[in-house]
Amino acid sequence: MQVHVFENAKQVGQAAATLFAAQLLRKPDSVLGLATGSSPIDCYQQLIQWHKAGILDFSKCVSYNLDEYCNLPVEHECSYHAFMNAQLFDHINMKETHVPNGNAEDLQAECARYDAAIQAAGGIDMQLLGIGRNGHIGFNEPSDHFVFGTQIVNLTESTIQANRRFFESEKDVPRQAISLGIGGIMAAKEIVLIAMGEDKAQAIRDTVYGEVTPKVQASILRNHPHVTILVDKAAASLL
Ligand code: GLP
Repeated sequence: MQVHVFENAKQVGQAAATLFAAQLLRKPDSVLGLATGSSPIDCYQQLIQWHKAGILDFSKCVSYNLDEYCNLPVEHECSYHAFMNAQLFDHINMKETHVPNGNAEDLQAECARYDAAIQAAGGIDMQLLGIGRNGHIGFNEPSDHFVFGTQIVNLTESTIQANRRFFESEKDVPRQAISLGIGGIMAAKEIVLIAMGEDKAQAIRDTVYGEVTPKVQASILRNHPHVTILVDKAAASLL
C-alpha cells in the first residue's frame, strides 16, 4: 500500500487522474471501476480536460460503477447514474458504461448479473474508490463480516446523514443501495483510493494503521498487492 499526501484536494484529484490516464495510455481497452461522491469530481474534470485536449481517448474503454441507490429513479438528479452522466460520461467517449440497476425487479438477480458482467469483461483493471467517514468502500458498511459479491445494503445512519446534503430532506435519502462487494473490489488489478478533508482522517488512519477488520471495510485493502492511497493534508492529519 502506497500513501501519497498532497497539499490540497485538487491535487489529489489530479494525481488520481494521472494514474487513470497512464492506465488508459498503457491499455486503451481498460476496464475501469468508477466511483461517485464528491471526492472523484476533480479527477473526472481533469480526465475530461485531457479528453477534450485530444490526449485521452476512451473509445475502447469500458467502465463499471461501484454502486447505486435502490428505488431511486435513474433520472433523479441524485442517482449515481445521473451523477456519472453529468460529471463524466456526457463529456467523454467511453465505449460502454455500466452502473448497477437499483430499480431491478429482482435485486438479487441484478447483483449476480453485475458480477458476471464484470467477470465476462475480463475483470476491473483499475478501481477508483472514495471512502465513507465510517471507512466504507462502495456501500460496504461496517459489519462483522466482509461480503464477497455484489450485494443489497441497508445504509447506516452515518451514511444517510453524510448523503443527506444532496437531497431535499432527510426522508428523501434512500435507505438501501446495491454495491459491488469486497470480493469484487479486491479482484481489481489496481486500486486507487482518494480522500479529502478532516472528516475522512480517522477512516484513513484506521485503513492504513488499524487492524484489518470488517468494522472498517477499507482496512481489507491492506491485503491487496497494488493499492495507492491519495489524500490531502487534512485527510492525512491523523497519519
Ligand atoms: C458514498 C459512496 C461511496 C463514496 C462515499 C464518500 O457513500 N457510495 O462510494 O466513497 O460516499 O463520498 P464523498 O466522496 O462525497 O465523501
